[in-house]
Amino acid sequence: PQPIIIFVCGVEDQTQDPVHKYGYTHLSAGELLRDERKNPDSQYGELIEKYIKDGKIVPVEITISLLKREMDQTMAANAEKNKFLIDGFPRNQDNLQGWNKTMVGKADVSFVLFFDCDNEVRGKSLSCDNRESLEKRIQTYLQSTKPIIDLYEEMGKVKKIDASKSVDEVFDEVVKIFDKEG
Ligand code: C5P
Ligand code: MG
Repeated sequence: PQPIIIFVCGVEDQTQDPVHKYGYTHLSAGELLRDERKNPDSQYGELIEKYIKDGKIVPVEITISLLKREMDQTMAANAEKNKFLIDGFPRNQDNLQGWNKTMVGKADVSFVLFFDCDNEVRGKSLSCDNRESLEKRIQTYLQSTKPIIDLYEEMGKVKKIDASKSVDEVFDEVVKIFDKEG
């Protein structure tokens, strides 16, 4: 079977538990990029470093190749593990176009799980190595990512969660969505 995908946008790590319960494999685009940056054999290390420092979005070919490698490996090990939650993707028009070009027909995107919160909450959730890039990242979010979420919203494909609520309340909302859709 081909992969079934849920895209996630928003606060880090609030999806981990429900994800496992419903048999999804969690992939983080940002984490895969950070790992690749550390890999001395990677031809993309320097480029990724520069983009992350500037809070910019890495060219989609790189990001999709990392995501695809993870999905292929997971499904090669167990064909039934074809459900993926992709965190931090798509973040801009380039991400979206790259996905549509290479993955449409090969993977099904069920919906976008959108953790809605203001920039203060958003900022607090960002990992430490990105602190100095915070302002730049917020700009990137407003200019590049939000319009992509809006596009999915117009297609009726966004499930919104109020991420300013308590961890438990957010968890309950996520579980509700997965009970219905997952
Ligand atoms: O979401 P996360 O904090 O893990 O992302 C870290 C950085 O990785 C982002 O600021 C961005 O530079 C890069 N990234 C990217 N493309 C994505 C997701 C993350 O270039 N789709
Ligand atoms: Mg992330």
